[in-house]
Parts: sequence; structure tokens; C-alpha cells
Amino acid sequence: MGMEHSETKAEGKRVIHAPRGSQISCRGWGQEAAMRLLMNNLDPEVAKDPDNLIVYGGRGKAARNWKCYDEIVNMLQELYNDETLLIQSGKPVGAFKTTKYAPRVLIVNAQIVPKWATDDIFWDLEKRGLTMYGQMTAGSWIYIGTQGILQGTYETLAAIGRKEFNQEGLGGKWVLSSGLGEMGGAQPLAITMNDGVGIIVEVDRSKIDRRINGKYLDTWTDSLDEALRLKDEALKDGKPLSIGLLGNAATVYPELQKRGVVPDIVTDQTAAHDINLGYIPEGYSVETAEEFRNRDPDSYKKEVYKSIVKETKAIISFKGMGSNVFDYGNNLRTRAQEGGLENAFDIPGYVPGYIRDLFAVGSGPFRWVALSGDPEDIYKIDEAIIENFGYDDHLVKWLKLAREKVKFQGLPARICYAGYGLREKIGLLINDMVKNRVISGPVAIGRDHHDTGSVASPYRETEGMLDGSDAIADWPILNALLNASSGATWVSVHHGGGTGIGNAIHAGFVMVADGTDEAAEKISRVLNADPGLGVIRHADAGYESSSSLIRKGVKFKTPYFGEQPK
Ligand SMILES: NC(=O)c1ccc[n+]([C@@H]2O[C@H](COP(=O)([O-])OP(=O)(O)OC[C@H]3O[C@@H](n4cnc5c(N)ncnc54)[C@H](O)[C@@H]3O)[C@@H](O)[C@H]2O)c1
Repeated sequence: MGMEHSETKAEGKRVIHAPRGSQISCRGWGQEAAMRLLMNNLDPEVAKDPDNLIVYGGRGKAARNWKCYDEIVNMLQELYNDETLLIQSGKPVGAFKTTKYAPRVLIVNAQIVPKWATDDIFWDLEKRGLTMYGQMTAGSWIYIGTQGILQGTYETLAAIGRKEFNQEGLGGKWVLSSGLGEMGGAQPLAITMNDGVGIIVEVDRSKIDRRINGKYLDTWTDSLDEALRLKDEALKDGKPLSIGLLGNAATVYPELQKRGVVPDIVTDQTAAHDINLGYIPEGYSVETAEEFRNRDPDSYKKEVYKSIVKETKAIISFKGMGSNVFDYGNNLRTRAQEGGLENAFDIPGYVPGYIRDLFAVGSGPFRWVALSGDPEDIYKIDEAIIENFGYDDHLVKWLKLAREKVKFQGLPARICYAGYGLREKIGLLINDMVKNRVISGPVAIGRDHHDTGSVASPYRETEGMLDGSDAIADWPILNALLNASSGATWVSVHHGGGTGIGNAIHAGFVMVADGTDEAAEKISRVLNADPGLGVIRHADAGYESSSSLIRKGVKFKTPYFGEQPK
């Protein structure tokens, strides 16, 4: 397949699919990869609302508007191998001659001077067409569908099993959560992959259907009683099961609490960070909520806050009744507090509890995408990793489960949490496989912005840092500059993703393994530097596992972290 097959029109709408195969329409694989992954972000199989260029996470977009999208594609096709294209909040603004070692694209999304960084100001500027919300991987063109968060959710739940229940996985336990959107849709599969049972409340029937079709969700009902019956039966039979419950979290959580039904684990993954669009207030459907929002945005917001407070109060009560509760990175607590619930932060965040230990050793959601479009390329890489790193039981278990359970969306891709050292080895292994034609085409290697050294987000990734450096945002900027200097193919710095405007600064990169020696050099540099900075960030904050890793030997220099006071 070539470029000409990448776009069709259905009912006057544009339907985008990234080109597959080895024929390229750009002047190099770097530009071609950026173009394919921009297109892939808008593939209807991948994106939440491709007509409006929305990829995931509330209103996280890939390009500012369709005109900007077309201009980006045109400029990428014209771009030489020693030029760099600049993207300002989803809009291409120029290309400069740089060098072949520089990134092909530099992306900056949603940056706003701190005093102006409020929802009201930002969304007003957005409405006026001056900026764009890029979430994390939407505006940086490395979203890979729900698989992208699947492993993070799987790892979080596995850590809860170990830490809270002293068991491997969640056998015999049940989880209450909500939101089956682009990220939240990973929850049911992550629960059943851990052998648990889950009830996930979702207000939009079409999202439930999407998850059933994608095999992320086992079954659904619109009756709470039926959901509870199914849950009890599965627990009794010792079988994993995920149940979608059509309803509103603000209704269901308090109702369960009133009935004294206590889940083992409670969380929420509605897009509560986006108060305008991400959380449907109680008593409304998606359609009636839209009508209300358009007619009277201020009253609408008040209703949203009321519902969020109601749901959050129930979560706190569940905690008192013995449930393990946590905020899953959607800023629900902040919204509840803004809505008047003073003790919303009685709910702990998931990063300090369950993910920080991984970040501290440079581990995070590493991923790769087969630009050929051939699923066999991903399966061959899975096999090569299992063969080469078979000593890592956890990694092997994950890759086998992923292969069995994950249905690809758009270009075939794989994610795995990999730490400092391992990422570089995997990157070089993939490049060798391209070089030796074991796989059929180049591979894009990247990661989420939700990673070890690439994000400052006091309500999520950097909540409760040992030294209180939660809000220090120098790290993601250093990260982006370092990755650009080290040879990444494109680099991005965003504001707001995950927890919303004013709450996070974060950076990402993607690089292309095209099998050349030059790519191998760049891979070696970037995949050492990027997680290496994460190790430094955590050692600097006082995490012993980070300084111990440094003492064991790393491929970067640091001042002395560890035994002597800073
Ligand atoms: N923990 C993480 O690692 C992580 C990563 C990425 C994103 N996030 C955050 O998770 C949240 C969800 O992301 P997403 O991409 O799934 O968003 P999304 O917008 O695709 O989906 C949100 C879903 O919640 C549903 N919903 C809204 N209000 C509801 C209510 N009151 N009751 C039941 N369902 C309701 C919506 O219908 C929708 O399906 C966002 O805030 C995002 O920023 C967390």
C-alpha cells in the first residue's frame, strides 16, 4: 500500500490511515515516520474523535485543525534530511536548515506563561485558534491506542496485589472504576490480565461497544444489580471477568456505598481533568450534556463539580470501609477540591504508591511501532526480546500476555516497561533486526511523556517527591533539550497533559530505527540519555535505588549522589 491509500472519504468525512509498506513519500524515513505516526494518531481505529482531530484524554489533539494537518503533511513530504520542521501547538510554522543529526521535527504544545496558565484563559485562547491541547502522546504523534496505557495499568494493579494483598495478581479481588475512554478502556483488560474481577462504570454506550469489540471488555449491563450478580458469580467461580456498567459514576459509587458493598480496590478514570468536556454530570447523557454545555457553560460546570464531589466523597467513604483507593492520574481530587470537598486528597495518588519505584530506576512505558504495518514485525521483535532477555521473568510474562490479549489499533505496536540499560539494548536489537531484514521495515521507538525523567506533575508523576521537588519543571525541559541533542527524530515539550492546564510540563521523543549505523549511534545515545536523566532526577531527590544504580555503574557522569549530604 502507498500514500494514495492513506485517505478516503466516507459521508463527506475524512478517514485517515497511515500508509504501510516500504515505499515512502517523504525524503527520508525520519520525516516518513513522523507523517505515518501523525496519520496513525488520527486513524479511526486509534483516535477517539478523528473528525475533530481529537486522539484521547479529553481534548488531546494531533493537529490544530485540518488546514494545519494538511500543511504538516505537505511540509514533511518536502522536508530535507538536514532540515527541522517547527510545530507550534499543532500548527507548522516553519522549517530551518539544521543538520542531519538534529531532530526532523520539534514540537511545542500548549505552553503558556505561568500566570496565565488557567483553564479559562487557555481554553479561550484555544477557542480563538491560537493554541492546542496536545495531551501527552496526541500532539507528539506517538499514541498507540489503548495498549499504550495497558501495561501501566497492569503494572499498577500488579503492584497493588503485591503491596496490599501480598499476592501475585488480583485473584479473588474486585475493582470498581469508571471511564472506558481511550485510556480508561485499558482498565478491564488490565484487571483480567491480573486475574481480577472489575465493574467499570461508563456513561456512553458507544464506548462500551468499542471496548467489547476490541476485546478489552468481557461483558456489559445497564443494571447495577446484574453487574453485582455477575461480579459475585465470577468471584465464586474464581474466574477473571470485566463488566461494563452503563451508568454515571456519581450515581453508582454513592449507591454502592449506601448499600454497604465494599470493593477491594476503587479508582476512576473519567477525563475529570477536563472540567468542560471530560466528566458527564449526573442525570445527563452525552447528548443532553452537550446541549446543556453549549447553552449554559457556567451552570454546566457547577453541575460537573457537584457530581465529582459526590463521587469523590463516596470514594473516601470506601477508603474508610476498607477499600484500597487511589487517584489514577486524572486529577479527580483537584476537581473535587475546587468543587468544595476539602479532604479530597485523602485519596492517595498511584505514582507515589505504586509506580515511583519503577521510575527511580529509569523504568517507564517504552514502546515501538512497526512502520511497515506488518504485525509479524512486532511478533518477531517480541520473540527476539524473549530470547535475548529471557532472564527477566516479568518482561517475558508481559510480552506473552500482550501477544495473546492485545488487539492492535492502527499500526502494530508494542509497549513494555523497561528500565535504564534495557531500553538501549532493546533499541539496538530492533535496529539490528531492521538492518538484517529479519523484519520488513523500519521501526519507530518512543515512549509516553508519563515517564521517569520527562515530567513535572505534582498531582501525578512527581506527587510527594522525597525532597519536595514536585513542582520543579526544569527536568522535562532538560529532557527535551538532551534528547534533541542526542539524535532523537522528533522531540516535544507539552503543558497540561493528563492533569490539565497549570498542572504539568512534560516532554517526549520518537526515533527511527532504520537499520543504519547512524541510527544505531543515535539509538545508543538517546536511549542512554533519556532514562539516564530520570535516574539522575530521582537520585537528586534522594531515592536510594537511583543512587545505588548510579554507583553500580552507568554510562553518564554525575556529581556524587548518595552517602554525603547534598
Ligand atoms: N494514569 C495514567 O497513566 C493516565 C494516562 C493518560 C491519561 N490519564 C487520564 O485519564 C483520564 C481518562 O483518559 P481517557 O483518554 O480515557 O479519556 P476519554 O475522554 O477518552 O474518556 C473518558 C471517559 O469517561 C466517561 N465518563 C465521563 N464522565 C463519566 C461519568 N460521570 N461516569 C461514567 N463515565 C464517565 C466518558 O464517557 C469517556 O468514555 C484523563 O483525565 C487522562 O488525562 C491517565
